[in-house]
Amino acid sequence: MLPDRGLPAAWRALARRAISHRIPPDRIDWQGGGNLFADSPLPTETGPHEVRVGRAFLELAGSVLWHSAPERFDLLYQALWRVDRGEGAPLSAADPLGQRLGLMAKAVGRDIHKMHAFVRFRELPTDGRRRSFGAWFEPAHNTLEPGSTFFVKRFADMDWLIATPGLTARYAAGRLSFEPGGQRPDLPDDASAALWATYFASIFNPARIKLGAMRAEMPKKYWKNLPETRHIPAMLADAEARVERMREAGATPPRPGAGAVSTRYRATMPAPADLPATLCEAREAAMQCRRCGLCEAATQTVWGEGDSSARLMIVGEQPGDREDLAGRPFVGPAGRLLREAMRGVELDPDAVWLTNAVKHFKFSSRGKRRIHQKPDRREIEHCRWWLGLELALVRPRLALALGATAALALTGDSRPLASRRGTIETGLHGGPVLLTWHPSHILRMPDRAGQTRLRHELEADLAAGRRHVAAAARQSTALLTAD
Ligand code: URA
Repeated sequence: MLPDRGLPAAWRALARRAISHRIPPDRIDWQGGGNLFADSPLPTETGPHEVRVGRAFLELAGSVLWHSAPERFDLLYQALWRVDRGEGAPLSAADPLGQRLGLMAKAVGRDIHKMHAFVRFRELPTDGRRRSFGAWFEPAHNTLEPGSTFFVKRFADMDWLIATPGLTARYAAGRLSFEPGGQRPDLPDDASAALWATYFASIFNPARIKLGAMRAEMPKKYWKNLPETRHIPAMLADAEARVERMREAGATPPRPGAGAVSTRYRATMPAPADLPATLCEAREAAMQCRRCGLCEAATQTVWGEGDSSARLMIVGEQPGDREDLAGRPFVGPAGRLLREAMRGVELDPDAVWLTNAVKHFKFSSRGKRRIHQKPDRREIEHCRWWLGLELALVRPRLALALGATAALALTGDSRPLASRRGTIETGLHGGPVLLTWHPSHILRMPDRAGQTRLRHELEADLAAGRRHVAAAARQSTALLTAD
């Protein structure tokens, strides 16, 4: 009688009917689906007694009903019965029943939170129209249904499924549906798995291992489905030797001011479970960034913008003077050249994700003028954390590096661009990176012939990027087939 889905409404209807006939808790067999014990079924009509409950009860029931304990229906009905008769305070933590229900509601809330933090989507082959992702998750409670609305909001423009042992949520062409769960599907590894692993390895400090805290944030039962945790046993096994190697290497004398910077850096380093889950959250977090000294002089963080599920991500160096004031990337002369070049090869500027390797403007002051300064390796490395998040959240099929700073940030390789431009390398995130000129470099060319040549090369690379992402989409086959 109680369905797998739409449970709260179904339970409420049954409970309302039962209480309207003043049927006491010990006569209802909730585990048998809400029938009366032994004698008769629950009356089909509502009885004469009308019961009113407050918001607190409805909210509590709205959580507890997703708990996996079979006795949850009975406990809630006991609470309803007592509320109706004015017997004590069955929702209060001071009452054993209220305390039990409160703990169950908390467990459900925690389970939903863990789902939002630990679901790791893998990209699935598609027919090219909408991108498609699949994930396997093992919640402790029946939380996929209430937890899915978060993913609908976050991935509204993609198709996805989340499979769990009890239920599968499928979001296709803007419609969410549920079907029975089952076995873990065969999900391909994709570039984002490598990115999570790289991110995790990069924040793992062998000298500061706190296993207790790590397990509290990321309980071990979730490890097997998280790409980044595959490396934990090996990293732990190597930790002692790494600390020894660090000790042998000796301390590097700190630069002046490094203490303040690294204090800020540590203070803003989130634990893995606190990673921003959406581009909006990431942008908000980046606005507070104090990882390096560039935030001191710059007006604001300049976050990326564009299509949040773009197949192509274009990465520049850092915001310039105009971008720093406007808070948006590529709004000055370099941006104008870039957009013209994109339109010239039929690449829609609104269909890409446009961002920078470094999110703050670095400059030196000369009178009233602010003169652009190249970010150094350390600043690029601090900011790579944000770029990595953008890559993980947008999941482009190709990243296009404009200039040497973006190339270094994306590939970790600082060889000169002249010999690499026009080629595709593998980025630190595991995905392809196409290297090309920065539009500002073209604008700075002293002679017109040089400018024209470089501009043609930029256009050729943009066109190659467009073809690359289109071919990647075509190669893919059938997407999430609804059986
Ligand atoms: N140059 C860049 O690299 N990025 C901008 O946003 C503007 C100019």
